[in-house]
Amino acid sequence: MTVETEKDWEGLRRIGRIVAAARDEMLRAAKPGMTTLELDAIGESALRRYGATPAPRKEYGFPGATCISVNDVAAHGIPGRRTLRPGDLVNVDVSAELDGYYADTGATTVLKGSDSERRRRLAECSRQALMAGIAEAKSGTKLNRIGRAIERAARSGGFAVIRNLAGHGVGRKLHEEPDGIVNYEDKRDARLLTNGVVLAIESFLSTGAEYVVEDPDGWTIRTPDRSLVAQFEHTVVVTGRGPVVLTV
Ligand code: CO
Ligand code: CO
Repeated sequence: MTVETEKDWEGLRRIGRIVAAARDEMLRAAKPGMTTLELDAIGESALRRYGATPAPRKEYGFPGATCISVNDVAAHGIPGRRTLRPGDLVNVDVSAELDGYYADTGATTVLKGSDSERRRRLAECSRQALMAGIAEAKSGTKLNRIGRAIERAARSGGFAVIRNLAGHGVGRKLHEEPDGIVNYEDKRDARLLTNGVVLAIESFLSTGAEYVVEDPDGWTIRTPDRSLVAQFEHTVVVTGRGPVVLTV
């Protein structure tokens, strides 16, 4: 959607703060020994406390309130009986709706454990790559500069980007136009960013794979070679002065 009124700003800021709060509660709570279902319940109760509705379930019938993707799972991990272990790379992706407005955010943490240095570097590089991509989100500039910045940051850290996952427009629905905000510079993409457009920008960095595949469950998306993936995501409004990040 494109922000047009003060009411739009207020509605988006409100849901942005809510999904960010749920995300951060989940990241703080993630501990070895707990199941991903227990972690999802923490996110769900946070969203409910603020009166927000989990978007993946509402829009797609996803079997969970949030997506929890561990290690080689890149996206859409289903909360379940999987027990978190020391050193796990845990991504939580929280999206929700309130009063007709949607926001979408994600972050990745590494649980305390031996030999987790490389995982920490992957997560930190993905966070920085996302911020580099967001910094390009200014009206009048080419949309593909976002992907270019994300890929550059990934490469400078020694990591790869996933080429078949992407960010998207958001606001009135969970996924809307513009779609295909990829993690590399698509030279054929001539789209320009317009003032007020609302984007969910996402970084997907991996330790090897450039393409992900879907599990037979129809949801879980993972690397075929078990390489690790770290995702970060923010909902932002594009303005003439640059991006306004709503999910902080
Ligand atoms: Co998301
Ligand atoms: Co998203």
